[in-house]
This record gives sequence, C-alpha cells and structure tokens, in this order.
Amino acid sequence: MCGIVGAIAHRTVTPVLLEGLKRLEYRGYDSAGIAVLDQDHTLLRTRRIGKILELEAALQQAPLVGRIGIAHTRWATHGVPSERNAHPHVCRERVAVVHNGIVENYEALRGELQAKGYEFTSETDTEVIAHQIDVFLEQGLPLLKAVQATCGVLRGAFAIGVISSAHPRELVAARQGSPLVVGLGDSENYIASDVFALVAETQRFLFLEDGDTAVLTTDGVEIYDAAGAAVERPVHETRIAADAVERGEYRHYMQKEIHEQAIAVEKTLDGRYQGERLLDEAFGDTAAAIFDQVRNVQIVACGTSYHAGMVARYWMEEIAGVPCQVEVASEFRYRRHVVQPGTLFVTISQSGETADTLAALKQARLIGYTHTLAICNVPESSLVRESELALMTRAGPEIGVASTKAFTTQLTALLLLVIAIGKRNGISKEREVAIVRELHRLPSQIEQVLRLEPEIVKWAENFGDKKDALYLGRGMHYPVAMEGALKLKEISYIHAEAYPAGELKHGPLALIDDQMPVIAVAPNNELLEKLKSNLQEVQARGGELYVFADVNAPLESMAGVKLLRVAEVNDVLAPIIYTIPLQLLAYHVALIKGTDVDQPRNLAKSVTVE
Ligand code: AGP
Repeated sequence: MCGIVGAIAHRTVTPVLLEGLKRLEYRGYDSAGIAVLDQDHTLLRTRRIGKILELEAALQQAPLVGRIGIAHTRWATHGVPSERNAHPHVCRERVAVVHNGIVENYEALRGELQAKGYEFTSETDTEVIAHQIDVFLEQGLPLLKAVQATCGVLRGAFAIGVISSAHPRELVAARQGSPLVVGLGDSENYIASDVFALVAETQRFLFLEDGDTAVLTTDGVEIYDAAGAAVERPVHETRIAADAVERGEYRHYMQKEIHEQAIAVEKTLDGRYQGERLLDEAFGDTAAAIFDQVRNVQIVACGTSYHAGMVARYWMEEIAGVPCQVEVASEFRYRRHVVQPGTLFVTISQSGETADTLAALKQARLIGYTHTLAICNVPESSLVRESELALMTRAGPEIGVASTKAFTTQLTALLLLVIAIGKRNGISKEREVAIVRELHRLPSQIEQVLRLEPEIVKWAENFGDKKDALYLGRGMHYPVAMEGALKLKEISYIHAEAYPAGELKHGPLALIDDQMPVIAVAPNNELLEKLKSNLQEVQARGGELYVFADVNAPLESMAGVKLLRVAEVNDVLAPIIYTIPLQLLAYHVALIKGTDVDQPRNLAKSVTVE
C-alpha cells in the first residue's frame, strides 16, 4: 500500500505534496513524510508518526520550502510504524526516496550495502533503494541511469519517486508492479499513486507501464520503457472532479457513502439500457461478440469485492444458467487451474489497484483465459487498463476504508453482466424485462431501507460491550452475512464471523451463549422456513437474535427475537437491499466503540501489496 506524491515546479511544492498526501491517506495512515530540495539544493526532510495532520502541524511550525519534492503516507510492511521507518528515506543527505510496494530481496541487498559501508537507520525494505541509487551515483551515472540500474537489481513490486541534491532539477520515478501516474501541469509536473491525488492541480495524466522510468523537469516529462528506450505514453484527461470528496453534513465518509447508495446505483444503471433492454456496448465495443462465446464464468476478487462475486455466482447459475466459480485472488494466483474453454475471466475491484487481483488477472492471461472483464469503480485504474472489457460501477470516490457503495454498485453491475450473458443462454425477454424493471425501482427501495437507521442506532447500543458476533444467512444471503461480518470487524474491531445458517449445527452452535449476538438476514424466500429452524436452534441455546426480516416473513411467533422489518423486495435484488442495514449496524456500533471509522487501525483502502 502506501501513497506517494512528488512535484517539480517554479513555486514551492509543499502545498501540492500535502494536498496530494491528504487525498492518498486512504492508502495508509500510520506515518507520513516529505522531503524537498531548498534553493541551495540542500535536502530537507520532515517525518511524523500518525496521520497527515501531524505532518501538517509539524510543517506549520517549521515550513519546508523547495521547488522540487517527494512525499509519502505509509502503511507499514517492513518495520513498525515509527518516525525512523517513515518515508522519505535518504542516503548521505544526497538521495531521497519514497516507495510503494515491497522489495523482496532487500535483505541480500542490505548485506551487500552494509559491506560497502552504508549505514541503515530504519527497518524498512525501502532504505536499500536510496543507498543503491547512491552507489550508482558514486560510479558517475546520472540520476535517471542510477535509478534504472537500481530497478535492475530490485526484485518485487515497487513504484518510487527519487530526488537528489546532485541533480536538483530532476524528479525521477519508476514503476514495476505498483501504480504510478504522471500529472502534467503548466511548467510543473507531478507523480502520484493515483490520479485523485493530483486532480486539484491537473486533469492531464500519463500512466506509466510496468518497467517504465520517467524524468520530470519543469519543461516536460521523458519516459523510458523497461529496455531503456524512450517511449511516448498517451495523455489521458480525467473527469474526476477536485471537490468530489467533501464530507458535507455527514460525520464520516462511511456514513455519507452509505447514504449515497441510491444515487450511486442510479448512476450505475444510467444509459445502460435502451427501453428495457440491456445494451451490450456498456461493457465495451467487442462485448457482444465475446459474450456470444461465454460458456463459463470465473470471478476473482478480494474482500468486499469477493463477497459481491459470491452473490453473482448465485445469480449467474440461477438466472443465466451459466456455470460460475468465485475465488479469492490471493488463492487463485498460487494454484494450478483447469481452464474451461469459453470462460470469461471476471475481476471485481473498487480501486482497480488491488495487487492480488491484478496479479490474478496477469496469471489468468498466462494460463489461457482468453477473455477478461473488470467490474471497477476507477476508470483510470490498472485493472481497467489491463482488461479486455470493463463495466464501470460509477459509485464515485469511496473514501471510507470500509467499502459500502462500492459493494452495492458492484452487485448492480454484476446483475447487468448476468443479464447480458443470460440473454444468450435462454433467459426470456420477459424475465429480462422484469429484472430490469426491478432494477429501476432499486434506488427508491434503497432510500426506504435507509430509513431504518434510527432503529438500528438503538440496536447498536447493545453491541458496545460485545467481543464476538455471528452473522447468518442462507443462499445468496450467506455472502451478504459475510459482508455484514466484515463491516463489523473492520470498523468496530468486534470479532465477527458469518455462516450459512444450515452449517450452524456442524460446529458454530457451540459458541452460542447469552454473550453472543447473532445477526440474521431473513428475506421472505423459499429458504425462510429452513432459516427459521436455524434461528430456533440459536434461541433454544440462549443466543440473542437480531433479525432483518421481510415485512411479510412470519417470524412473530419467535418470542424474544429482535426484529427489524424490511419492505418487500424482489428476491433477485434482495442481497443489495439487505446489505444496507448491516452496513448501518456496523457503522453505529463503531461510533459507540469510538473507533476511527473511516481509517480503522491496521488497514488501508487500496491494498497494493501482496
Ligand atoms: C472492504 O470493506 C475492505 N476494506 C476490503 O475488503 C476491500 O474490499 C478489498 O481490499 C478489495 O479492494 P478492491 O475492491 O479495491 O479490490
């Protein structure tokens, strides 16, 4: 993870770097730092443990002034969060480096560099990069060549930004496996981990490819590929607005994002239909021909996006009648596969930069999956650029680390994919039109379920002293339960697990006592009676039951059960609706626990390391 930003200009760059760091804070927030070259080309550095605000306060006390600089917000991989492990890392007051990724051979390099007399002041893998560049500068190489030579000895994934007092008019960057963009300004240029970091400065970007190095000056940008040859990368204009991330009246981004879901889903659907028929072109120009060949679907994703994939598997098999497998990306990439002919390889990712998902996509291509499609929220992301087809979820920037609107828009987008494939596999026009009609009602149903918030606030009060919680669902509501449990654990730090309700008697029932709240999702579907029996098993053992149930589900007879009624919703769309009260519950429990809701401990929004 980690976020990096760099700038070279005819004005002091500290405000640009700080603003960029604030916009990248979702990538890590355990420490932050900045380094600039002042007018005498002296390397100045300030680092602080904690959030960007701490760094900002330090810079207010002692400003750093320079027209070239780099900055970093950290999510610790090697070495505890501390000031000495914070980036930028420097070598002999001559080279400063910020790094996102992991240098896998850092121990061997560290040994070699120590033997040459280099002293290490941190436990990080990054520090070897600074010293290694210095070794090559000592040999007389210019900064670009020294960085290129260094990249040649590094193993692993990295995006780096480098400045040197010996070359004060050049900012050098390199990308290998971790994201890095170049922003083009007016007589000033920038680098950052994503476009969003720089949209306050520019809308024009170049995307570096793996193996690329770049030299930025105030006059322009030169890019070299892995072989060292000068290359041109196309300029992209972003449509991301600089002010798209205001928190407004809400206390947290997560709360805002939960409440944005109706609008977000509306945007996901917008323009994807002509009348009541889905347009294949929404997935890309070649989608129709590719979908004609699909006989099987393999979905790969991580975390919340994986849960969306799990719901989609039920839809794909039940509605489209096409076999579908779903796997966590970090597992997919490290095992052997039997590739079924006619398989569409689908990745799901909010950020489009998740390292495991990207690696799984690369792996998939290598082993013979011919057609790839990304469901993603960031059009400029690596995943979208590296996939053959893409469907944008259009959720808008999601800042809270806990994914909310990304999930419900992913589900909406996945349902569109299911219809597109189902159309070719016997799904009737009537069924398609019926689902589409329901999809159009979805935003208003989301608004309706959000009105349960005051009741959920009251429920949340019972969770303040809880250590564990169990979530239950059946069928396509099992992944919904998983998503609810993930939300609770990541922002309230309460241990939560999800089970398909029928599995309870095979072990987890042993956990039930009066200290274990059990949260169940009970839409009025064909599995309700079965679920009811499972809930009775919990009740008989003194478990405290919290049930989100359809307004018509006959559950009144279950005395002592806490019930919140959800308005009637179509079976297919129910997973989208039932997720929302679970998000709200997690949010309000976290408020009671007093945790850092938008930036929970140990996590980061975009997981760009393995
Ligand atoms: C969700 O609340 C998480 N913070 C996390 O599981 C996330 O969904 C996962 O890291 C995948 O991210 P992506 O969608 O950006 O690939």
